[in-house]
Amino acid sequence: MSTASFSLTATDGAARTGVISTPRGEIRTPAFMPVGTAATVKAMLPENVRATGADILLGNTYHLMLRPTAERIARLGGLHRFMNWERPILTDSGGFQVMSLAGLRKLTEEGVSFKSHIDGSKHMLSPERSMEIQRLLGSDIVMAFDECPALPADRKRIEESMRLSMRWAQRSRDAFGDRPGHMLFGIMQGGLERDMREESAKALTAIGFDGYAVGGLAVGEGQEAMFSCLDYAPGFLPQDKPRYLMGVGKPDDIVGAVKRGIDMMDCVLPTRSGRTGQVFTRHGVVNIKNARHADDPRPLDENCSCPACTSYSRAYLHHVFRAQEMISGMLLSWHNLQYFQDIMAGMREAIAGGRFAEWEADFHAGRAEGDI
Ligand code: GUN
Ligand code: ZN
Repeated sequence: MSTASFSLTATDGAARTGVISTPRGEIRTPAFMPVGTAATVKAMLPENVRATGADILLGNTYHLMLRPTAERIARLGGLHRFMNWERPILTDSGGFQVMSLAGLRKLTEEGVSFKSHIDGSKHMLSPERSMEIQRLLGSDIVMAFDECPALPADRKRIEESMRLSMRWAQRSRDAFGDRPGHMLFGIMQGGLERDMREESAKALTAIGFDGYAVGGLAVGEGQEAMFSCLDYAPGFLPQDKPRYLMGVGKPDDIVGAVKRGIDMMDCVLPTRSGRTGQVFTRHGVVNIKNARHADDPRPLDENCSCPACTSYSRAYLHHVFRAQEMISGMLLSWHNLQYFQDIMAGMREAIAGGRFAEWEADFHAGRAEGDI
């Protein structure tokens, strides 16, 4: 019987590098997971996502349960076959997306009932139903069902919400059962309250998970507050299990998170920004719609190996963006994903070589604030 496991290969300060081994392949950490919400990483073919260096994608319970439904995906052979991605997939559990996307919501001890943002139809999610959907999808890394208050929130709201999420974490564990080769991650909550984070981590480790996420961050608190929380929160979690910071972030957020002991991240930023003409480079952010690119024959980033940079000029990328040609979203998404994966590869190598501080100094040295 094949199993999944995590092994740390090196640490440098709080930063870590290692490998999650699953029957569908290895995930090198620190790992960035491109977001494939609706069974596609928007504007990208799966083989091209792989070519950027991605080992794992993220999928969403919320979107897929509504359309095309988990049962239909299961009948068609599971999410991997459906979307033509045979490597690992992590799925989020749905509660967070219900709170940000669904219409009319009702939260009880049992779970959350809501109206679809697509057609207004009524649905419910609970820890048990979320585990069932993620099993039907065939997810390799299943997330516990949780609830996350928007920040700022008062202490009482954060405390009650965190304790509800911990009861749901136990129900998620019970409903998940024993599934060799598949991992279940718990999600720490507790806002920016140190004692709440500690209580949450203790509750999760007592239940026992294959990995632990830091949830409830990047919800409007700002980088400084997020880093303050990450200065202690990862330390409450077991050393020997992967730590996943959900929904983060910009390149400097990712680097700061890894520095503080985070192993995995996901964010829509590279793909979403790609479609809106915002490009991340080692020199800073480029806005391709800016008129000053119109006659520029240079590549976006002379050091990047992606097709947008090796085969096209800034002038061409500016033109196709302005003309709303589909290739624009394709090339800029590819470039952004390549850049994010290059950052991860650079950090993995630096941590393995005990050079993370130098790598980080170089990363910051080359960057300008604002558009370049
Ligand atoms: N995505 C970003 N933050 C969160 C969170 O706190 N919980 C879940 N389930 N998903 C997230
Ligand atoms: Zn590029």
